[in-house]
Order: sequence, then structure tokens, then C-alpha cells
Amino acid sequence: MIYHKVLVVGGGLAGMRAAIAVSEHYTNVALLTKIYPVRSHSGAAQGGINGALCNNPRGLHDSCERHGFDTIKGSDFLADQKASMLLTAEAPKRIRELEHWGCPFDRTEEGKIAQRPFGGAGFPRTCYAADKTGHVILHVLYEQLVKHEIKTYNEWMVTKLVVEDGICRGVIAMELLTGKLHPIMAEAVIFTTGGSGRSYGVTTNARTSTGLGMAIPYMEGIPLKDMEFVQFHPTTLVGSNILMTEGCRGEGGYLKNKLGERFMQKYAPDFMELAPRDIVSRCITTEILEGRGFDNSYVHLDLTHLGAHKIITRLPGIREICINFKGIDPITQPIPIQPGMHYFMGGIDCNIDCATDVPGFYAAGECACVSVHGANRLGGNSLLETVVFGAIAGEKAVKYIEGKKDARKGEKALNSALEQQESKINNLLNNQGKEKMPDITKEMSETMLKKVGVFRKKDELKAALDKIKELIQRYKNLGLLNKNRKCNQELMWALELEGNLLVDETVVAGALVREESRGSHSRTDFPKRDDKNWLKHTVATYSSDGVKLSYKEVDTSIYEPVERKY
Ligand code: FUM
Repeated sequence: MIYHKVLVVGGGLAGMRAAIAVSEHYTNVALLTKIYPVRSHSGAAQGGINGALCNNPRGLHDSCERHGFDTIKGSDFLADQKASMLLTAEAPKRIRELEHWGCPFDRTEEGKIAQRPFGGAGFPRTCYAADKTGHVILHVLYEQLVKHEIKTYNEWMVTKLVVEDGICRGVIAMELLTGKLHPIMAEAVIFTTGGSGRSYGVTTNARTSTGLGMAIPYMEGIPLKDMEFVQFHPTTLVGSNILMTEGCRGEGGYLKNKLGERFMQKYAPDFMELAPRDIVSRCITTEILEGRGFDNSYVHLDLTHLGAHKIITRLPGIREICINFKGIDPITQPIPIQPGMHYFMGGIDCNIDCATDVPGFYAAGECACVSVHGANRLGGNSLLETVVFGAIAGEKAVKYIEGKKDARKGEKALNSALEQQESKINNLLNNQGKEKMPDITKEMSETMLKKVGVFRKKDELKAALDKIKELIQRYKNLGLLNKNRKCNQELMWALELEGNLLVDETVVAGALVREESRGSHSRTDFPKRDDKNWLKHTVATYSSDGVKLSYKEVDTSIYEPVERKY
């Protein structure tokens, strides 16, 4: 049986950073990923990574505490405050570490790491490499992965987490090329599998961003937390919904409606286009709903006044995407944009050490909810989260296994999980059901977009919950066309779809019950934040007859929650 001291599942930034942290202590660490690490969705992050480095002259008085406060305020006070403060306190160290590993950040004239303004931030603190920041960090961490000679299982996909007597023993994983299932024993497992962007029809997320990584531990009884908080990025390119980075507005871009008005003046006069994402997404949606959008579906992101030099040097990727996907050049033409689903604030319930209630099982990055972002994440805090909590997860997993005597445990549980997964896969392949995957996928993603989007209300959420529950039932009657085990993409997407559906049920159920508006969760029937009744985390627990909800306390030990104004 394959055995590793620590197995990291997910090849993006959080996963690679976690594996690197472990490899400093143990050589027997492996990283398992369904795509090659440098193809991970982390590479799509454009605008930057936040840290109070105070390199921008306008950010001289910045500090980690101010960064922490902005993060907590941005979260609409649902973040666990000590966790947010840890994120921001670790930021300068982790960013400099990336610099020392060779990350080609843009520079100030003095040669320091350049920093641009980003949404909801009191100071310019977003470090960047033009508009390809995620891409360059991904490659820097991949170099470290190679340098540390970390074993990778590329194009392998986990189908089950194995928990025996409440302790994590490893996983069952499928080698995608052959379709063969393997039990992998590990003393600690770290999930870094990203978010469930593809639950939604309009999203900045890659096709590979599905909910399976959250659903696998969920099905083993590990709860998901705060799932109703789903971030819509304000500016995605109409048509493809590719991200148009917040860096466009950080560099001075304007948002304009069809009357040519910079409408953010009405809604957030101090922060304007650089208000936090939840607010800007609502403002754009309101402009469109009230008839001031173009074709009732988009507004303009106007960069034309920035000049060719700034666009070519700071936003080259944006220009290229606009030319290739829309046939427009932002140097001379405004970009048609609309909000699109971007990020899950919720995820696998874990504490500040990235530990879950199951000893030996950890989570980091977007799939996890350490609870640093609360109800709304600030732009630039996601790349930061991956390197800060990736490293923490790795270090804490090492601590957990230190001193354990008889390490190789759980063989029986792994073998019986293997048998169970073999029969699950065979049933899926042999099912003669009439349901087709594209139909279920389409109905799911349309439901999530139309009924669980930027604005929400009771009857629509109720209808969405009924629909998702119906789709979960119909999934059982799925008939796959490709019955082979080898390199069966249809089988892989069928497993991913089950993950999406289970995650979506937690999102909708949590949103329906939460009768208030907070951060990204905006209820038109309950338009106010209600701290008295709802300053609490939602905890979603799996049961065979549907999700069960409970609640837990938010850490507000540092700042008194106040009304958010920008
Ligand atoms: O707009 C952006 O560049 C995205 C950044 C983020 O999600 O943190």
C-alpha cells in the first residue's frame, strides 16, 4: 500500500506551500493533484497579494494591524478576528519569502516591491507582478517543489477520505489515466482543493474548480462553515466571464453606466470604484436592474484615460484577454463587464491551525474556512491566504505526527474504503439511468446564478433548495455514455458534479435560513445586518437525508462590530 507521512491533496498555491513546509521536516511527503500544479486555478489570480510592506509612498503609515482591521471590516464583522490578524501579521514575511525565492514582483523606482491600491483597503498594499501575480507565484512555488524533490501524483483524483475511529488514515484516489483506484495511507492529510466556482453558470473560475474537495470531508462528517457567503467579483468580461482584475480599478479605472455616469459616486463616495467587492457588485447589479446598464446586462470598465503605457506595462494580460476574447482594445475602448461568481468565503470548518475536528486532517486555501474573510473577502487576501495558511497547515501537520510511534495504521479501514469506492464507481458506470450529466449541470448552475446570486430572497432561495434537492435525487439515476475505466473524463466530471450538488445544498440552505444581509449575502427581504440574531457562523453537517444546520460563535475579541461605511 502506498504510504506517506503527509499527503497534500491539491496542487495549487496552498497545496504546494503546505508540501514545502512539510518537506523541511520529512522527506516522505507527497502532493496529489488532478491537474499538473502549474495548471492550477491559482494561476488565474491577477491583481496581487496584500501585505503591509509600506513601500508605496501613500502607504507609509500602513501596518499589519490596519490591514487586519480592513479585513475584519471588509468581512462585515463575521471573520474570526484573531485569525484575520494572524493572516495579516504573517503577510510581510511570506511575501518577502516569495521575493527571495525569485518572484518577479513589479518594483518601485527605489527597487522595492511595488504596491497598488485595492478594494476596501485603507492603504495601497497589494503587491503585484503586472496582472499575472497568481501565475508567477505558482511558478515560483513549483520551482521550490522541484527543488525539495517532493513526490507528486499528477492527474490523480481523491474520491474518499478515510477516517477510522475518528482519526484520519488516508484517502482513496483514482489514477485518471488508468481509472485504477489506490488506497493511500498517510499519518496526516491536508486538503487544498480550492473552491466550487463551477457550481455557478457565470464564474471567473476554471472548469476544474468544483466542490468535490469540500464534499469529500463533508460526507465523512466534517462540517462546512459559512457556505452561504459566495463572492461575486464586480468585473468579469461579458461573454466568457474571465476576470478583469480589481487592479484595473486600482490603477485608476472607472465604472460607468450607459448614461456615462461614474455611478459609484452615489453609493460609496469615499472609496468609489475601490469599495469592497460585495458593495461594488451590488451597485453594478442595481444599475443594470434599474435600466442604466447596456443591453440590460452590463456596464463599462473604462481604462481609456489611463494611457497606453500604463495599460501595456501594468495590465498587459487584461489587454490581451480583451483583444482575444472580445475584439476590443482597452487603450481606446471601454470594457463591457458584469459581476460573476468568484470565490467561496465558506469551506471546510477548521481552526486557526488549519486543523479540523478529525485528528490528522487539515485544510487550507479556498476549500478551507479558517474564517479570515467572514462574509466578504477583500481582493488580494486570497493569494495571501494560500501562502500563509498553506505554510501553517504544513507545520501543524508536522507537529501532529511528531513523536507518533506506530505510524502505519488504518490498513483495514483503507482496504474496506477501497472496496466501497470500487463498487460506487462500478455502479456509476453500469447505471442504465436516463439522466444526462449536461442537463443536471445546466439546471444546477442556472439555479445557483438566478436564485442564489448577488441579491437573494426567500421564495427564490426556497425554489433553489427544492431544485438542488431534486437534482441530488436525479443524480442517482445518471446514465454515463462512456463505460470505460481508462481516462474516462465523463466519470471524473460525474464525481465532480456530485461534489457540486452537495456543496450547493449547503450554500442554499444556509442562505435561506440566514434572515439578514451581511457582506456577500444580501437578502432583499431582510436588507439590514442583524448582529443580535445573526452574528454567528453557520455550520453545515452532512446527513443522508440532507444538510443539517447549526451555529457557532464568532471571535469578536479585538474590534467591536460597527456599521460598515465606505
Ligand atoms: O481582481 C483580482 O485581481 C482578484 C484578486 C483576488 O481575488 O484576490
